[in-house]
Amino acid sequence: MSRIAYVNGRYLPQPEASVNVEDRGYQFADGIYEVVHVYDGRLIDADLHLARLDRSLKEIGLKPPMSRAALLQVMHEVARRNRVREGLLYMQVTRGVARRDHAFPGPGVKQSIVVTVRRLPPFPAAVEGWTGTAITHPDLRWARCDIKSVGLLPNVLARQKAREQGATEAILVAADGTVREGASTTVWIVDAEGRLRTRQLDHAILPGCTRGALIGLLEQEDILFAEGPYDVETLRGAREAFLTSATSFVKPILAIDGKPVGDGQVGPVVRRLFELFSRHVKGGLRNAA
Ligand code: PDD
Repeated sequence: MSRIAYVNGRYLPQPEASVNVEDRGYQFADGIYEVVHVYDGRLIDADLHLARLDRSLKEIGLKPPMSRAALLQVMHEVARRNRVREGLLYMQVTRGVARRDHAFPGPGVKQSIVVTVRRLPPFPAAVEGWTGTAITHPDLRWARCDIKSVGLLPNVLARQKAREQGATEAILVAADGTVREGASTTVWIVDAEGRLRTRQLDHAILPGCTRGALIGLLEQEDILFAEGPYDVETLRGAREAFLTSATSFVKPILAIDGKPVGDGQVGPVVRRLFELFSRHVKGGLRNAA
């Protein structure tokens, strides 16, 4: 069965679902995207992803392509038509098709929207089978990484470097030596003193929806954590490190730049948070549509 994509109001077999060569997403990376985890047919943390989509669109001067309810319906319909109960849903909104000119096109140009879905292997049953490694890499991105722009070239190059070194993720480090985030993930540590930490939100990193959902769970469970800057030496000296994202969930990082994190095993904090997040996903405690 060919995969079905939603493109500007139509559900099309994916091989026929192509964009115009003058789409501004293609020519300028002038667009926004979202990735949502589908579990048991539910869209995990959908309200957080839709809120972030609206915010990203607003920041680049685009209107939402349709109402939230209509978009949710399209998202479910794409999953249903592809018979995907567990997978990842990708959506992208660009400023549409117009003759190439850097400034925005006139009001007559309609934005483009594409929604696709693909199957993922089953949610990891145990945290042991769900570990990774990382390298550190300079953060070469622009000054508005809080916007989920489709312009991902520095992320692509950093992730490729990680892949070539046999690692799962590239952890991006600012010029001042502070840790930002992964190429497509939020970074967390349990520092040498046992404190659970992640970097504060500002323009330098994406406000991760998994980060937000996990913080909600930490608060419910009275687990202390701190949001703030920390440097790469603190990362290297951490007892535990892990990543969060819509596709990584909660993923322990056992080595950074070839050196073990802590004792190189899955630590107690990440184990607990993996279990907590698994319950969130599987139980659909909240935020799942
Ligand atoms: N990436 N930071 C960056 C730079 C990201 O691209 C992502 C998500 C995250 C985590 O955000 P969330 O928890 O909302 O997935 C952090 C998606 C999964 C991607 O590009 O495929």
